[in-house]
Amino acid sequence: MSNNIIHHAHELSKMKRSSIKNQKPCVLWFTGLSGSGKSTIANALEIELHNRGKHTYLLDGDTVRLGLNKGLGFSDADRIENIRRIAEVSKLFIDAGLIVLTAFISPFEKDRKQVRDLLEDEFIEVFIDTPLVVCEQRDPKGLYIKARKGEIKNFTGIDSPYEAPKQAELHIYNDKDSIENVVNKILAYLESKGYLDA
Ligand code: ADX
Repeated sequence: MSNNIIHHAHELSKMKRSSIKNQKPCVLWFTGLSGSGKSTIANALEIELHNRGKHTYLLDGDTVRLGLNKGLGFSDADRIENIRRIAEVSKLFIDAGLIVLTAFISPFEKDRKQVRDLLEDEFIEVFIDTPLVVCEQRDPKGLYIKARKGEIKNFTGIDSPYEAPKQAELHIYNDKDSIENVVNKILAYLESKGYLDA
């Protein structure tokens, strides 16, 4: 890396950018197994936030992997790089004043800790806790069945670990509650912490 890259302080601050939107920027970092419901909940929440006039952006596992992170696979090293880039992109969107939602398995505690350290108090970890058996029954993309047959290697929950968060800001049990209830819980949290009213 060049030593000649020097940070230039811009005059227009993140707070000024977000103030015209009447919101406090943050990232809602959804983590959980494949099929746990991260994307479904993040989608439903984004629509609610949009309906309330909030400016959001949703970064989703499958889409980012088709573009920005094309070329990264599912080895431990590639997953680490996947999360690192998404964290940096989230930081830029936060700087733009947005409420960011991310939906990635992000299976490793150490990597999520790095994101937390990078984004500090703008990082809200949302653990979508759905038992593996339920995710496997749902198997919306037919990937678990392939992983069980050994046709996909390093599949999270099967032959690659998922390290559950121990201190997530929000711990959502998503095998019994309705999507609407879950979304309302997250909205209540955001409201109570002043993210929707800056
Ligand atoms: S992460 O581990 O690097 O955070 P990410 O959320 O981007 O994963 O991608 C997960 C999605 O990729 C899953 O929902 C699934 O559709 C697909 N996928 C393909 N191969 C794998 C695999 N080996 N492990 C987990 N997910 C996989």
